[in-house]
Amino acid sequence: MGNCWGAKISSESPSRSVYTSGANSKFTSRNANGLSSSSSRVSASSVPPTPRSEGEILQSSNVKSFTFNELRTATRNFRPDSVLGEGGFGSVFKGWIDEHTFAAAKPGTGIVIAVKKLNQEGFQGHREWLAEVNYLGQLSHPNLVKLIGYCLEDEQRLLVYEFMPRGSLENHLFRRGSHFQPLSWNLRMKVALGAAKGLAFLHSDKAKVIYRDFKASNVLLDSHYNAKLSDFGLAKDGPTGDKSHVSTRVMGTYGYAAPEYLATGHLTTKSDVYSFGVVLLEMLSGRRAVDKNRPNGEHNLVEWARPYLTSKRKIFRVLDPRLGAQFSLAGAQKAAALALECLSVDARYRPNMDQVVVALEKIQDCKDTARDARAEVKMSSTGFGSSKQRYRRRSSGEAVNGKAAYPRPSASPLGSSAK
Ligand SMILES: Nc1ncnc2c1ncn2[C@@H]1O[C@H](COP(=O)(O)OP(=O)(O)OP(=O)(O)O)[C@@H](O)[C@H]1O
Ligand SMILES: [Mg+2]
Repeated sequence: MGNCWGAKISSESPSRSVYTSGANSKFTSRNANGLSSSSSRVSASSVPPTPRSEGEILQSSNVKSFTFNELRTATRNFRPDSVLGEGGFGSVFKGWIDEHTFAAAKPGTGIVIAVKKLNQEGFQGHREWLAEVNYLGQLSHPNLVKLIGYCLEDEQRLLVYEFMPRGSLENHLFRRGSHFQPLSWNLRMKVALGAAKGLAFLHSDKAKVIYRDFKASNVLLDSHYNAKLSDFGLAKDGPTGDKSHVSTRVMGTYGYAAPEYLATGHLTTKSDVYSFGVVLLEMLSGRRAVDKNRPNGEHNLVEWARPYLTSKRKIFRVLDPRLGAQFSLAGAQKAAALALECLSVDARYRPNMDQVVVALEKIQDCKDTARDARAEVKMSSTGFGSSKQRYRRRSSGEAVNGKAAYPRPSASPLGSSAK
């Protein structure tokens, strides 16, 4: 599984962006089973300088300072079989602490934590680590993962989070195996709404933060599929005064970054909206943002899907076949239209995240799944025809196992997993 094609995006200055094929990137993600994940992230060397000093950040954060020994005990010496995942920063381990004292606890007691341990050789990771403490140590919202603490000891840099039992959205969308059943339509839309609320909060006056690394692996899920954003290593304070953007080095994950940001290094909240559009499209299609295992012309999800998103009928070519017939047709059309808006090449035509939240809330209300969508299936099963006559001619034999099946045009291979 795991078509692992991310690409490094880095530059010395906004005007000298360099895109490096990341197939063999040192930041290739691997999960506990040694399986590659979708993307590789750039180095953290250009995390923006924070106006606050390291001491100020650590002192003012609302999180606990752990010793290395405490975390070693909590994770049973960073046991390999407790690895939850691995990313550009390092490995993430499962551990246990006492809910009152936060002291290491026996496995299965107290509260479960996720401990992210910086790779020793990751020199630049310190800045990313500090940015995480800076932002997550201050911001609190139901759709942001909770940072419980950190450890800074000699060369050791660790972060301690609340444990998210259902792991990342990336795992649910792209991993195959009995552990990861396809996410239903309703759950996909629930996750999209939760993640959108997280971004909307970041962009609001309360936080004024640009997230800059929105992607499926950074959306974590609790036991009820509530989405929470993690990884603030690349986050950046939004523009102040009447400025429209902040100038940065180009950082992020290939396939998710907005075109104008890649071209100019000018970062705005609309850059996050674009990335959200990419993830929404991943949720609709079950395809990765970048997948070089696909046929030519389909490597880049946005480029491939864009023409289909403009037509209410053609969106069937984009929709994940694993959704079966259990989705709202009206909802799918609205979600596709929303993704298209978020992916507008001209950032001015993208909605803001508050508008995205409102649109997704409306989609949750689309309850046409059972009857209307099935009728539509029958109607379109002869080749996306729309005439009532055609619909009448179809027999109920189109149903599979008692459920209507959406036709998958041959142009859209069922092996969307391509794992
Ligand atoms: N709080 C958490 N609870 C449960 N699992 C987690 C938690 N944080 C991370 N993980 C798991 O560890 C994996 C690695 O996370 P990490 O953020 O280090 O890397 P990534 O997001 O996959 O890649 P990148 O380094 O490019 O951001 C995640 O995909 C997820 O499966
Ligand atoms: Mg991550």
